[in-house]
Amino acid sequence: MRTQVGIVGAGPAGLMLSHLLHLHGIESVVLECRSREYVEHRVRAGVLEQGSVDLLCRTGLGERLQREGMRHEGIELRFDGESHRVPMTELTGRAITVYGQQEVVKDLIAARLAAGGRLLFEVDDVRPEGLDTDSPVIRFRRDGREEELHCDFVAGCDGFHGVSRAAVPAGVLTTYERTYPFAWLGILAAAPPAVDELIYARTERGFALYSLRSPEISRLYLQVAPDEDIADWPDERIWAELRARLETVPGWSLNEGPILEKGITPMRSFVVEPMQWQRLYLAGDAVHIVPPTGAKGMNLALADVALLGDAFAAWYGEGRTDLLEGYSATALRRVWRAQHFSWWMTSMLHRLDGQDGYEAKLQSSTLRYVATSRPYATSLAENYVGLPEV
Ligand code: FAD
Ligand code: PHB
Repeated sequence: MRTQVGIVGAGPAGLMLSHLLHLHGIESVVLECRSREYVEHRVRAGVLEQGSVDLLCRTGLGERLQREGMRHEGIELRFDGESHRVPMTELTGRAITVYGQQEVVKDLIAARLAAGGRLLFEVDDVRPEGLDTDSPVIRFRRDGREEELHCDFVAGCDGFHGVSRAAVPAGVLTTYERTYPFAWLGILAAAPPAVDELIYARTERGFALYSLRSPEISRLYLQVAPDEDIADWPDERIWAELRARLETVPGWSLNEGPILEKGITPMRSFVVEPMQWQRLYLAGDAVHIVPPTGAKGMNLALADVALLGDAFAAWYGEGRTDLLEGYSATALRRVWRAQHFSWWMTSMLHRLDGQDGYEAKLQSSTLRYVATSRPYATSLAENYVGLPEV
């Protein structure tokens, strides 16, 4: 097989890149190790920045998003027994939209297939090779047979555990990393959300987040130990802990219902620089991870490939190399802003075991500052809804 851009990974980054390239008249093939069914039902992020919504709408993917997505103009911070609203839209003129990542993935897959796009699911043993030549090849196995995809460029959009980043020779990339001494236990529940806006709660027992997916489905998270076993969390224990952490203001209670899905996600901050080597361009979780407290992961993945789509268009359309050469440095500006914001939100809201009380006092003071200072709240809000320029 031959194509112009060979894309590894059918997550938001790989699929969106394929869609953008198609709109520019550039061919691509997407290689994905999981099934279509699996990637369309993988429950992950839920918050789209205004810029991500604009990108999806501008490229013809806004129809269901505008019908089913829920526009939110504020978030709530809950701490020390009080609630404080951050009025994001009043402060920034921008908003977020709650729309599940798997819905974005479904819309992208449908659009690619409708346009005759080539998405190969359930391929094995993907090996990008010849990346330092003008004609890289991606070898893989499909239905037990060895196949080759010849291309001009390889886009590594295969997430944190993918193979693309590992194809770069040792010594080329620099890794910046933080791990956190906690994880998130997330549930999806068939319960009408008791909230109109997301609640980020800091308590003595740890962090909790109240989010949603639709008027019937709630999405909630609990801070837990990094080595926590999901088997130790029967549904009743999860609800009891959510009540203890969220029902901290008088007269407010959450809605419970059957738990449809539950899982534990480790928390990590991770960046690899540069985001490109020779003919390999890396995007999304393959090159950077943020803890989910800032709701940035999927948004960064989309922002990376928006740049990459323009860069390939300039190369194929006008023979320009400047955008491809500048891709890594340009993308990293947004990546590092999101790294700082996600680390800051995480540090402000989570309970640190063994902390001597000093850091807990700083957390309370920071939250109170956000709650009472318009400039400080504006800083949180503009990062949360997404900065147009970085
Ligand atoms: P992915 O979505 O990871 O897509 C990569 C794709 O590559 C996958 O489909 C994978 O199957 C495929 N792949 C991997 N290896 C290979 C291979 N060798 N060959 C072929 N294909 C391969 N963000 C939030 O904001 N809020 C959340 O609640 C949240 N929860 C998360 C939970 C989990 C378990 C994870 C892993 C991430 C979560 N994130 C969350 C982050 C967010 O979902 C990611 O930032 C987003 O998925 C990034 O998109 P991507 O396309 O770069 O990577
Ligand atoms: C979600 O709805 O899954 C979600 C919302 C906000 C976050 C993280 C996850 O910060």
